[in-house]
Amino acid sequence: MYTRPKALQDFVDATGAAFCSDARPVAVREFSKRVFALLTRESDNGIRHGARFPACKYLDNALEQLTDDRSDLGAVARSIKPLESFVGWQRRTSGENGSVDYIDKHVNGMIIGPGGMESRYDVQVGFSLLAPATRYPDHRHPPEEAYLLLTDGEFKQADGPWFSPGVGGGLYNMSNILHAMKSTDAPFLAMWCLLT
Ligand SMILES: [Fe+2]
Repeated sequence: MYTRPKALQDFVDATGAAFCSDARPVAVREFSKRVFALLTRESDNGIRHGARFPACKYLDNALEQLTDDRSDLGAVARSIKPLESFVGWQRRTSGENGSVDYIDKHVNGMIIGPGGMESRYDVQVGFSLLAPATRYPDHRHPPEEAYLLLTDGEFKQADGPWFSPGVGGGLYNMSNILHAMKSTDAPFLAMWCLLT
């Protein structure tokens, strides 16, 4: 029987607290409460996607600024590093308007969800990591999703303008809304959670 490792439970606790905090927009925290409620049940199908990609090298730099941070964001950042060798890595190769070299300059890290450290199909929790000056392609997906930024970065929803939620800012994407994100001149790291 599967038992969730302590380091992963620490990540779930830290990330759940940050997503569901009163400091986040109401749509983010209400949605996130539904996601993290499902994570009281442990479940893993054993599928792993451990192969790394070039953009994985930006993780340390993106986490660095929060190493000594005493807020809930620092707790999230510190809980990620011990899991690094168990993250399920994947890249998006479809979508419009991504920067020319975006495939090599981004990676998505699945911590909970298909191919992640706790591989399952009902929920996803992980992060997107972008190299400096990288635009992720416009994309959409049926699952609802919430983001929480651990670094600066910009987002776009539907045909609205680019906006910058700021470190600790969050946003909620309703089902199938077109959205995209881009980094500044530094690496970008944003956590996400989805109900699938
Ligand atoms: Fe998305």
